[in-house]
Amino acid sequence: MILVKRNVDAEAIYKEVAALMVERRQCVALTGAGVSAESGIPTFRSKGGLWEKYDPIEFASIEAFRKDPSKYWSLRGEFIKDYDRYQPNKAHLALAELEKRGIVRCVITQNIDGLHKKAGSKNVIEIHGNLMEICCLTCGKEYKAPNIPEEMPPHCSCGGILKPNTVLFGEELPADVFMKAKEASAGCKIMLLVGTSAIVQPAASLPYLAKQNGAKIIEINIENAFPDADYFIMEKAGTALPNVVGEIDKIRRVNLI
Ligand code: OAD
Repeated sequence: MILVKRNVDAEAIYKEVAALMVERRQCVALTGAGVSAESGIPTFRSKGGLWEKYDPIEFASIEAFRKDPSKYWSLRGEFIKDYDRYQPNKAHLALAELEKRGIVRCVITQNIDGLHKKAGSKNVIEIHGNLMEICCLTCGKEYKAPNIPEEMPPHCSCGGILKPNTVLFGEELPADVFMKAKEASAGCKIMLLVGTSAIVQPAASLPYLAKQNGAKIIEINIENAFPDADYFIMEKAGTALPNVVGEIDKIRRVNLI
C-alpha cells in the first residue's frame, strides 16, 4: 500500500518525486534501521525491535560497557550473528544506483552494518560507526571482524578490552564525521529520509537542517515518522526505492540525460 500526503495516486507520486530528483539532483539520503530490515537485521523501535527486548541503557550505553563489556558484546551477537550472512537488499542497491546516476551525492546512515558500502555506495557517512571495526581501548590497535579473539569479552593482544567502533548511548558522535553529515545536509536540495524513526539525536536534527536550507524532504517508511516531510511514501524501502530509480530512468530515456 502506498499512501501519500498529497491527493495524488501512487504512480503519480513516484513520477513527481523522480522528476524533482532529476531536476534538483544534489540529493542526500539519511537512512536508519528500516533500510536494512529487508536484509533480516532487526530494527530498534518497530514492533519486535531490539529495544523492545533489551534496555538500551543497560546494554548499549558507554557506562554499561565500562562496567560489563560482555553485555554489549552479547547484544552484538543478537543483532548480527554472522557477518557474511547479511547482504544488501534492493533498497541499498537502489541508493547505490542513484549515486552512480549522479543524483544521490551521499548516504548518511545511522546503521552500523556496513551494508550501504557493500551495496556499492561510495560516499557513505556512517555517523554511528561500523560494527566490523573493532578497537582496543588501551593501545588503540584495530581489528577487523570477524578476525577477533573468541573470548567474551574479547581482549587485545596487549590485554586491553576490545570495543566495536560504534557510538554507544552517552557517547558523542565523532566530531569530524558529524560535521561532514551536517555540511551534506545543509547543502542538499533533496533529503531522502529512509527507514528511520528520526528521533535519535543528533541525527534527528539533520532533516530540519536540510529543510531550513531549502531542501525538500521525501520520506520513505512503513509509517510516517517525520510529519514535516514534503512527500511521504508509505512503503517498504526495498519496493519504493527501486520504483523511484525506475521512474528516474524513464525520464532520462525520454530526455536522453
Ligand atoms: P528505529 O528502529 O528507531 O526505526 C526504524 C524505522 O524504520 C521505523 O520508523 C520503521 O517504521 C521503519 N521501517 C521498518 N521496516 C521498514 C522497511 N522495510 N522499509 C522502510 N521503513 C521501515 O531505527 P533508527 O531510526 O535507525 O543508535 O534508530 C536510530 C538509532 O537508534 C540507531 O542508529 C541506534 C538506535 O538506538 C545507536 O545505536 C547509537
